[in-house]
Amino acid sequence: MRLSSLLTLACAITAFILSILCLLAGNTRSFLQDTELLTLNISQLGHGSLFDTSDGDGGLLSTLGNDIQQGVNDIVNDLTVDIASLLGLPDLYNVHVLDFCQGTYSPNSTAVNAKKNITQCSNPTLGFHFQPTQYIEDHLPAGITLDDIHWPSDVVDAERTIKTVSRVMVVFYIIGIVFSGLAMITAIASIFTDGRLSAFINWLVDILAFGALGVASAVATAVIVIAVDRINKYTDEIGISASRGGRFLAMTWAATAVMLLASFVSIVQCCVGRRRPKRYEKGEY
Ligand SMILES: *[C@@H]1O[C@H](CO)[C@@H](O)[C@H](O)[C@H]1NC(C)=O
Ligand SMILES: *[C@@H]1O[C@H](CO)[C@@H](O)[C@H](O)[C@H]1NC(C)=O
Ligand SMILES: *[C@@H]1O[C@H](CO)[C@@H](O)[C@H](O)[C@H]1NC(C)=O
Repeated sequence: MRLSSLLTLACAITAFILSILCLLAGNTRSFLQDTELLTLNISQLGHGSLFDTSDGDGGLLSTLGNDIQQGVNDIVNDLTVDIASLLGLPDLYNVHVLDFCQGTYSPNSTAVNAKKNITQCSNPTLGFHFQPTQYIEDHLPAGITLDDIHWPSDVVDAERTIKTVSRVMVVFYIIGIVFSGLAMITAIASIFTDGRLSAFINWLVDILAFGALGVASAVATAVIVIAVDRINKYTDEIGISASRGGRFLAMTWAATAVMLLASFVSIVQCCVGRRRPKRYEKGEY
């Protein structure tokens, strides 16, 4: 019996569960919806310096102005006018690893502690990447274009990068899940054997799980940081903003950290090797 392997088993189980949850979070409207990579908040779209023109900002605002019988600058300056919903767009997108969801803020988008009311989610796919530009373009009312809402081309460029790296991220999560699953088996085997070989195999699987989850977490973190920074550059100009999903980051790095701990324990087991049988220890004293 090697009881220290109970620790590596606990680490492997934790990493396995956490990494599966990271991959599947937000899969449906109610499953871990608050474990998002990031939230894109477009509720104030239209309230920004680029719209604040007295020369009658062409398409968007005059169309809206006619619809709701209000002056263009009144709309821009009146933060209670939810331009996103006037355009038929949701207030927010919750972006997950395999899908994204949309919804509204309740009671409203500027209230302190506004809650997210998620109304629908896209179908989850492994090749998924979030393309807000395409989605928003498709859902704008006839006669209003991305130019009218001053949608930044910078965001379109960021989407292309994210599309590629998010596939790498999914692949490494899957590899990490497979190896942390294997690590459960090798940890159990290592509980019931004392040899260095079982400890070495356990270490090998642990370190591979750690490596895969580390890459997945690093890529996920990079995607989140790049996307959020890029979007928040335009908050003052067109009123869109984004925020990082703290819970997702905590879960993915926790999964990585426990596999690192398991690797340490199993390499120590491997170096220490077989424990001497008890009777020799007693005999020496
Ligand atoms: C948003 O909701 C809060 C709390 O209900 C309220 O005080 C505030 O006036 C609302 N803001 C807008 C813009 O409707
Ligand atoms: C959504 O974004 C707007 C504009 O950046 C901001 O004023 C508002 O507080 C945000 N709402 C939430 C709930 O984060
Ligand atoms: C959430 O949104 C749906 C559809 O817009 C609405 O029927 C429901 O009342 C909302 N729930 C809350 C808590 O605001």
